[in-house]
Amino acid sequence: MSDFFSSNLLKNDLVAAPLAGYSHMPYRRILREFFDGIIYSEMISVEGLSRRNKETMEYLDRKDYESPLVFQLFGGKPESYIEAVKVAENEAQVDAFDVNMGCPVKKVIKAGGGCALLNDLDRIKAIVQNIRKSTTKPFSIKIRIGLEQKKLVYDEILKIAENEGVDALIVHARTKSDMFSGTVRLDILEEMAANAKIPIIGNGGVLDYDSYKKMKETGVAGVMIGRAMMKAPWVFEVIKNKQNNVYSYLSPAEIAGVLNRLWEHMLEHTKGRNMKETHYMHVLKKFAVWFCKGQDGAAEFRTNIYKTNGIDEVLGLIRQFYGC
Ligand SMILES: Cc1cc2nc3c(=O)[nH]c(=O)nc-3n(C[C@H](O)[C@H](O)[C@H](O)COP(=O)(O)O)c2cc1C
Repeated sequence: MSDFFSSNLLKNDLVAAPLAGYSHMPYRRILREFFDGIIYSEMISVEGLSRRNKETMEYLDRKDYESPLVFQLFGGKPESYIEAVKVAENEAQVDAFDVNMGCPVKKVIKAGGGCALLNDLDRIKAIVQNIRKSTTKPFSIKIRIGLEQKKLVYDEILKIAENEGVDALIVHARTKSDMFSGTVRLDILEEMAANAKIPIIGNGGVLDYDSYKKMKETGVAGVMIGRAMMKAPWVFEVIKNKQNNVYSYLSPAEIAGVLNRLWEHMLEHTKGRNMKETHYMHVLKKFAVWFCKGQDGAAEFRTNIYKTNGIDEVLGLIRQFYGC
């Protein structure tokens, strides 16, 4: 078994979650400014990879310095993972893989992936067996604890993972019915951490040092941060410094610097791709709105940024608001 997860978690026990639409290379490059731990990519379709679909292949683009980086895969057909893993390894620098078994989004469930797998443990087993026989790279799986509180499956999945050579298990400690707001079952994380032979990475509702500490006290090997890193990529540094002041941690000028560098990375990323600059401009606006939380005049800035036309206006407003 690879020690990719355990050794990286020993260095930094925080983990950056896969966030579709946000864990793209431009944002991952920003995360790296504040974080040296494991980062997950956006989910990548195994059907697209196995057919070498051009757009899907672009999800494999990365910088060398992004390591440790995990490519997250999704899909419902166990056989497709065999080819997908081979294609990824042939075409890209792969540190490790993950399988999405917790996403409640319709598109993913329709393809038989994400949460749909929580209903079909045989399929989970077939998927992990196929990955294990197709690659020597480390891989994790990311689950929810079940579809609903009355139908929890985390225990069975942990056994499958341990028996079939999965290297780490990420547990979003909510059910599918809880979506993104139900209670995070720290009691279950504690039970799993006590029994597991592989590293357990807990996930759900961690926003700052206090919530990180509560989850870490369950005994998990790592703590994965999702939405909080979307709202403030520097949250990793805040937690490492044992602080809770996420929204006053950076000065306005430093935040403006982050947004400007993010835009440069976004521009670079559109080159040679079938991608419009406006796509990333809308994403940049979202980040600008999230990052301004807690600043004077944030409400007005939010309203104004959505009225802007074109990137020059967006960047101008950011300069004006953050005072640089
Ligand atoms: C916008 C968004 C996109 C997400 N995309 C993915 C994804 O691609 N793969 C995945 O496994 N989970 C995805 N998730 C779930 C997160 O990785 C994480 O499990 C969830 O948000 C709970 O963690 P948090 O409470 O720290 O946000 C996504 C969540 C959000 C809000």
